[in-house]
Amino acid sequence: MTTSRLTDRLGGLAYGGDYNPEQWDEEVWKEDEELMRRARVNLATVGVFSWALLEPEEGRYDFAWLDAQLDRLHAAGVAVDLATPTASPPPWFTLAHPDALPVTPEGNRLTHGSRDTYCLAAPAYRRACARIAAALAERYGDHPALALWHVHNEYVTLCWCEHTAAAFRVWLRERHGSLDALNEAWGTTFWSQRYGSWEQIQPPRATQWHHNPGQAVDFRRFWSDETLAAYREQRDAIRAHSDRPVTTNLMLPGYQNLDLWAFGREVDLVSVDHYPAAPGVDAAADTAFGADRARSFGGGVPWLLMEQGTNTVYAGDRILGKEPGEILRHSLGHIARGSEGALFFQWRQSRAGAEQWHSAMVPHAGPDSRIFREVTEVGAGVARLGELAGSTVRAEVAVLHDSDAWWAMDADGLPSAELDYHGTLRRAHRALWDARVTTDFAHPEHELSRYRLVIAPALFLLSDAGAENLRRYVEGGGTLLVQHFSGAVDQRMHSRLGGYPAAPLREALGVRVEEYRPLRRDEQAVLSDGSYGTAWSESLRTEGAEALAAYTDGMLTGSPALTRHRFGAGVGWYLSTRLDDTGYAALVERLLRESGAGPALPGLPPGVEAVTRHAPDGRRWHVLINHRDRAAPLPGPAHDLLTGGPADHLPAGGCAVLRAD
Ligand code: GLA
Repeated sequence: MTTSRLTDRLGGLAYGGDYNPEQWDEEVWKEDEELMRRARVNLATVGVFSWALLEPEEGRYDFAWLDAQLDRLHAAGVAVDLATPTASPPPWFTLAHPDALPVTPEGNRLTHGSRDTYCLAAPAYRRACARIAAALAERYGDHPALALWHVHNEYVTLCWCEHTAAAFRVWLRERHGSLDALNEAWGTTFWSQRYGSWEQIQPPRATQWHHNPGQAVDFRRFWSDETLAAYREQRDAIRAHSDRPVTTNLMLPGYQNLDLWAFGREVDLVSVDHYPAAPGVDAAADTAFGADRARSFGGGVPWLLMEQGTNTVYAGDRILGKEPGEILRHSLGHIARGSEGALFFQWRQSRAGAEQWHSAMVPHAGPDSRIFREVTEVGAGVARLGELAGSTVRAEVAVLHDSDAWWAMDADGLPSAELDYHGTLRRAHRALWDARVTTDFAHPEHELSRYRLVIAPALFLLSDAGAENLRRYVEGGGTLLVQHFSGAVDQRMHSRLGGYPAAPLREALGVRVEEYRPLRRDEQAVLSDGSYGTAWSESLRTEGAEALAAYTDGMLTGSPALTRHRFGAGVGWYLSTRLDDTGYAALVERLLRESGAGPALPGLPPGVEAVTRHAPDGRRWHVLINHRDRAAPLPGPAHDLLTGGPADHLPAGGCAVLRAD
């Protein structure tokens, strides 16, 4: 069955959010309809947390409420993104199936009372999920309001129970084939960990000291596959009754429980949630980071921002508000990078319950509020961007991301606690964002030849196939920067012998790393070009590469820190320390210059973000966001779709969407 395209059904980009009307009465629903019209809402996510209402007791469904809501929304001109409610099992479920509650690594079984209290590997839970997904699909599969299916909500819970242990063993048999192969892969000869039967193997539960690294990484791989299987069961139950696209909203970039490349292949449309992790311009950079990831996981095709907050910026132990104008800037930040719209959590701020302080499109203060006024203005702007639907974004630069490498870096016993996979990737992306360059993420085994520049910031684990692919990429004419502690272990977490990084990559880089030398906290390694490194240094020698900067202190004095190697038709760079911000920005600028990559729209001042969306028929649009506190001139006068009028400059904090000639 071919699925219909979301934006075809909506007739433009999506605007709206999670809608939980079960919290309100008829009078409020009436007001919702009026306010949704004013805000130009055309898509509402319904049913995410409605399990207790839809199935009040095991096997007894009550759809009257949802029938009425869907018909009502349809009559109001709002399409529905219908969720399966499986992220929040009701109390009757957990009381009937206590074995389906999640267990922590310490062996504590959680109880209900929150949400996400389930073990994905528990057969009773999986059966209940498939059942309710099928029941919903059967009833609403061709409902005229239905535009999209939303399976579950943010697959995030891990579990270490006996069901998990059993499923883990099945997965391990499949992966390793034999116990001997598993013992070899995990290096169990050391510390007397050798397994004599499959039943002896456990998930990596709380233990005395270091976990076995192979076991730890395999467990994360297994959990991702288990989650994907759970998603597929629901998706397939839905597909049996419905031709509407199916998605699941993926967690924020800082969570890495899933192989998101694999999920990207299984959903009809990638959708993500995004709440910035810092205020101000950092929030804008974070938005770009999340959006570029989302686009990349789907292979570059359009995707959807499923959730953001109207007034939510997570900042450590508090939730900060957004500045005026940020709802538009963040929404456009996602749309610029390929999102087919901008949705929020949630439509109306809860008056009670667990998330009553989470921001919403209609705040506690009601429609007479700054937030609702901005929501309405943004809705009007998004409604004028319909022609962007289906267009995509092209990038000349890629940052390499591999969940295996992230999970590997979470292993116990690494040489430094300052090795931060996620932070290192964000830093590389941020340097490119500051240089106003549009960036894709790519997997080390992907075809990379379309990129002028590829940066591998943190490939601690690099498979044999990945190492060979990167070698070929450089040989074929690409420019590759590999950063410290990359290519150190293979896919089994076995160290690369004879010098790091992995042999085929060494050939492309023209270096051989002999020794890793973590720096003391607060220690700086001053380099010969005036820049300095922190956290990490390496003793390496060149094997064909030229040294561009060397260490200047201690036993590493004179040892190369930054190298460049012409190899085949391309250039392989290696950076063996964590460079200071200024030094790193200068290096990225140099790589862009030498590789011929640059901003989508050159000539704009720093602080003005510009991304181009391309339609298959050759039309193009530039989305511009001014992050400065002063106006910025445009390259020339142009028609701004957001206002429907001419524009020759961007006001401070302002945005524009320009048709390119
Ligand atoms: C996630 C969830 C929502 C809500 C928000 C709060 O994105 O999907 O239900 O809890 O977080 O930020």
